[in-house]
Amino acid sequence: MQIVRTIADLRRCVAQWRAEGMSVGLVPTMGGLHAGHLSLVHEADNRTERVVATLFVNPTQFAPNEDFDSYPRDEAADAAMFEDAGAALMFAPTPDVMYPDGHATKVIVEELGAVLEGEFRPQFFVGVATIVTKLLLQSLPDVAVFGEKDYQQLCVIRTMVRDLDIPVEIVGGETVREADGLAMSSRNAYLSPQQRAIAPALYDNLRRVAAGELTAKAASANLSDAGFLSVDYISVCDSETLQPVTDPRRSARVLGAAWLGKTRLIDNLAID
Ligand code: PAF
Repeated sequence: MQIVRTIADLRRCVAQWRAEGMSVGLVPTMGGLHAGHLSLVHEADNRTERVVATLFVNPTQFAPNEDFDSYPRDEAADAAMFEDAGAALMFAPTPDVMYPDGHATKVIVEELGAVLEGEFRPQFFVGVATIVTKLLLQSLPDVAVFGEKDYQQLCVIRTMVRDLDIPVEIVGGETVREADGLAMSSRNAYLSPQQRAIAPALYDNLRRVAAGELTAKAASANLSDAGFLSVDYISVCDSETLQPVTDPRRSARVLGAAWLGKTRLIDNLAID
């Protein structure tokens, strides 16, 4: 696997593959890799001939009080995992490559980016949409794969790609879970053993809402009883608009975000 750090080197490698007639897949990540990320690389590898995996902890999607400084960073370990999973190239730029002095452009996905996560983390989707647009335009892949674990992010990216006419297929990769149901996340590394034991309650309660056994309100109360510090939201939404469900014939999803101590966990599930 090649490791490149500049946009020019990335473009040179991709152009070479294109000249050889090969298709290209992109898997953007912020590192702190786990089996969930690797499943996205496998998905891209199954669909295309060369996979570019990116490693960049994007500062613009973190608010000043969030975990940008403490976000897990281990480039050597991440590179080894990308390589094992089948990536042909790791793009690991520095912040000045992605945001040189004078960088002034932001991508904003209105409405979809303003609800749920957007309400609690107003900077988040602006940062995500801007960096993902840049990564797509830098690598010009045929396919880009994002995890359904960040379901709203996947919806925002699909909308952005459609609205900006970016010629790429966006593919959602299934959430990978621990044996007890906890969705894999780089932030799970922050949990103490006691918090780790409580954490699967988020999935469990979303599952019960999806099965019609609990209301969102009751699920939220259960999480507080289980030891979660606070619940930002548990919401049953239209799978496309992410607005509260009004038409029972439309496909729906339950999404939740809650704090376990200083760690914010999110998860979601389709409702049959
Ligand atoms: O999901 C993530 O890890 C990030 O939000 C992404 C898509 C790599 C953009 O920084």
